[in-house]
Amino acid sequence: MDRRRGRPAKELAALGFVLAGLTGASALAALGDAPIRGMLWVAKDADPARALGSVPTECLRIPTDPALAAKIEVGRAAFRTPVLLGGQAARAGINCETCHRDGRSNPDFLFPGVSGASGTADVTNSLFSTHRGNGIDDPKPIPDLSGPKGKLKVSQVPAEKKLEPFIHGLVTEEFDGPEPTPATLEGLAAYVRALDPAACPAKARRPLDVTLLMSDARRALKAAQVRAVAGDSATAVVMVASARSRLGLIDERFADPALAKPRAHLRAADRRLDEAQEALRQHLPEAQAKLTAWLAGSPRLEQELKARQKASLFNPAHLAQAAKRRLPG
Ligand code: HEC
Repeated sequence: MDRRRGRPAKELAALGFVLAGLTGASALAALGDAPIRGMLWVAKDADPARALGSVPTECLRIPTDPALAAKIEVGRAAFRTPVLLGGQAARAGINCETCHRDGRSNPDFLFPGVSGASGTADVTNSLFSTHRGNGIDDPKPIPDLSGPKGKLKVSQVPAEKKLEPFIHGLVTEEFDGPEPTPATLEGLAAYVRALDPAACPAKARRPLDVTLLMSDARRALKAAQVRAVAGDSATAVVMVASARSRLGLIDERFADPALAKPRAHLRAADRRLDEAQEALRQHLPEAQAKLTAWLAGSPRLEQELKARQKASLFNPAHLAQAAKRRLPG
């Protein structure tokens, strides 16, 4: 079947853009000198220091019940994993958190062929979905998932069991993702339910930096360990993928040749996670030891990256320079 038939030209253009994002070299060719994937889905008139250099703070209520807290951590990591989604979204590196930044909304989101005004997305768009593409442009504002529950459309009352099928549909139909593992789905619902306006930190935004991304990666790997101990390697693999995608977000900001050394160490760390993932897939007992060793070594890597952060695109001044080099049009 030719899935492209009947698509408006702007969608086709976006598709080419997304596919070009598949490999480093061709992505650079397609993006001009724009080095950060996030630039693909940020409105051009957005302030790069704000839209790409900072994120809203997360309003997450972590319960005292350790079993529920562990579920939430699984969901938190899944929420930040492109491979959870399928097709074009995954290839472009889009994940739940791309639109719902830190569980909130994203007023700066603008993706050709998917958004209308910035901050909107058409999640029934055939660019992302072969199931639900309805051929109609109907972008909707990205809702703040950390807003009052009463303002959201889908009931989050656990007993009503509305949220799980909704998220299942999002992943498998709207975003063409593979069937999520039961723990992943349960975790995503637990995470969304744990977002709470009463848990919002006093500061509305924080820098997007090495500290945040390394912390996300470590939390995802701890969730991987918990699932691996429970014999659920499939979910553990997704958790490691989440951690690796966070490292990828650091990597793309360390592309300057002057940063070759810390970047090489970052890539070596990523390869070790690749091996851990493979061990999990094969149900090898050493998977756990690999994750433990990685976590033990991670503060040192983090320190090295932080020491050079100012010279990277985590520095708002360099970021603003890089944003100016974006491909026009
Ligand atoms: C491309 C941007 C985008 C991505 C990626 C995305 N969403 Fe959304 N999400 C939206 C938009 C837009 C809506 C509102 C749809 C509507 O109003 O019909 C929405 C709605 C929702 C809602 C319902 C909110 C309510 O009002 O009850 C939930 C829950 C949700 N998303 C969770 C997720 C999860 C979990 C993921 C990842 C699996 C995800 N979203 C990925 C844009 C996105």
